[in-house]
Amino acid sequence: MRRDHLITAKQLSREDVESVLDRAAEFDADPAAFGDRHPDAVLGLCFFEPSTRTKMSFETAIKRLGGDAVDMGTVESSSVKKGESLADTARVVAGYADALVLRHPSQGAAKMVSEFVDVPLLNGGDGAGHHPTQTLLDLYTIRENAGLDDLTIGIMGDLKYGRTVHSLAHALTNFDASQHFVSPESLRLPRSVRYDLHEAGANVREHTELGEILPALDVLYVTRIQRERFPDENEYQEIAGEYGIDLETLEDAKDDLTVMHPLPRVDEIAPEVDDTEYAAYFEQAHNGVPVRMALLDQLLEGDE
Ligand code: NCD
Repeated sequence: MRRDHLITAKQLSREDVESVLDRAAEFDADPAAFGDRHPDAVLGLCFFEPSTRTKMSFETAIKRLGGDAVDMGTVESSSVKKGESLADTARVVAGYADALVLRHPSQGAAKMVSEFVDVPLLNGGDGAGHHPTQTLLDLYTIRENAGLDDLTIGIMGDLKYGRTVHSLAHALTNFDASQHFVSPESLRLPRSVRYDLHEAGANVREHTELGEILPALDVLYVTRIQRERFPDENEYQEIAGEYGIDLETLEDAKDDLTVMHPLPRVDEIAPEVDDTEYAAYFEQAHNGVPVRMALLDQLLEGDE
């Protein structure tokens, strides 16, 4: 991949994805063996929204490559509190770092900031927009568990506000995948995403009931209802808890179904599923380290 910004999964070709995933597999095999790859590299972390996995796995990844991270900290503890603009904050942190990760509640924030910074900017989630680095670790997990070709995947939950879904759906158009979207009518994929998928020639179906498609699935990707993005809390309450799975639900699934979730989960997957062969969501979260190592390694290579 080029030394470039990564804003949406639409930028990722099949070759881009495969080269990151292949490199990630090398890091995964022995993550502690690469501590002298980028000894002087600094990664800037600008998170304007809560994060556990994305932030900590990026931090672990840069440290495993021998580099270090500088973290803006919380909005409360940073100069954002004094009224500094997003563009100014990002420009300043970009001056301390070789690459930046940005997470922000506004859709389009990463694209906007990328025009102000001259180091690679990685979108760590922009509102209900995109989350392309999550997609890379999702694809890695799918490849390891089910393979990326001849794949039948169900993607369930909040398809309207779920940025991991938007990015994953785009990226899957590079592969031979049938995508089945399962959600209440009110949380269908946004029209713009449906349009893009159609333009990319994606094989897509929409459902309101998981049961209609579950027996055919190789992968079921469950998502959290994005409560914080609902303009009206009542709307959230109306559908909260409706799209969950437990062992009973999975009785109709293939024996080798892989259940994924970007996490955090609220109540979409009953804990009784965790200890079954279906569950891949903790492994998925752990894959964030080798995959982000691979991505950073490619971005930083040009610096050597
Ligand atoms: C996701 C996100 O932030 O979009 N979390 C993550 O990065 N793994 C999913 C979510 O918050 O539901």
